[in-house]
Amino acid sequence: MTDTDAAAPEMGHILRDWNARQYLDDYYGHRTVPEDEAVMFRFIARGLREIGRHFESGLDLGCGPALHHAAQIVPWVDRLDMADVHESNLEEIRRWIRNDPDAFDWSVFIGAERGGLDAEDGQGGTLAEREAMMRSRIQLLPCDLREAMPLGKPAQYPLVTSYYCAEWVIPTIEGWRETMRNVTSVVASGGWLFLAGVHATEYAIVGGRPARCARVAHDDIRGVLGQLGFAPSTIHVDVTPGLRPQVTGIQGTFMAYAQRG
Ligand SMILES: C[S@@+](CC[C@H](N)C(=O)[O-])C[C@H]1O[C@@H](n2cnc3c(N)ncnc32)[C@H](O)[C@@H]1O
Repeated sequence: MTDTDAAAPEMGHILRDWNARQYLDDYYGHRTVPEDEAVMFRFIARGLREIGRHFESGLDLGCGPALHHAAQIVPWVDRLDMADVHESNLEEIRRWIRNDPDAFDWSVFIGAERGGLDAEDGQGGTLAEREAMMRSRIQLLPCDLREAMPLGKPAQYPLVTSYYCAEWVIPTIEGWRETMRNVTSVVASGGWLFLAGVHATEYAIVGGRPARCARVAHDDIRGVLGQLGFAPSTIHVDVTPGLRPQVTGIQGTFMAYAQRG
């Protein structure tokens, strides 16, 4: 081992020692909506408005225990399937759907200033109405994005979302391309994909430890979507800087949406 090796932090994988509740507390336990999340709420709200289509169903891949983006999607779908490889994430969502007293509180991210409803310019109804819509439209299922058929059977959705997931599954650029093939395999022809993740980032602190991710940047995202059959004229990509890169390791966030040809 060289001196450099000795100084380098030991890198883990996001699934090692995953703790759904700690992830929520660390990344979403805020009293106000952080700037990067506010930017993403507006980007997604604008995209959904511009597409202007109501979908029979949507699928969120690698949903984790998080519900703030589901809150934005539910008005546009009859049913939202949320899928993750970790049962503990699905259980955390079930807890919220059941209204358990110890469920995570999403009211800040959905209903507070600069949150999901704010990004809809006051057109989206009240927090209580949105939460009721989420409880009636969300369904949960397992998935594994290392598999060519992530849901374990053939499936096609007109709307697919995935946030902060594909770059973590196999944390190399080749691994990310392979995962992106699996993610996009469930987008129907003519369907839309919304994708977000960490930008130009090697690792992030998850559960108090550094976990490695694939380092993807703006041109990789546009490139992979084009190669996987998304019409270049429909590909929108934006990047926002990380808020505390020295603490979290996250250098920035990308957000994208595109339509499959
Ligand atoms: C950083 S978290 C993001 C969670 C959530 N989408 C969000 O925006 O906060 C990464 C998620 O990817 C999921 N994940 C990792 N490997 C996966 C795999 N092979 N298949 C499906 N999901 C996976 C993890 O369980 C975790 O929920």
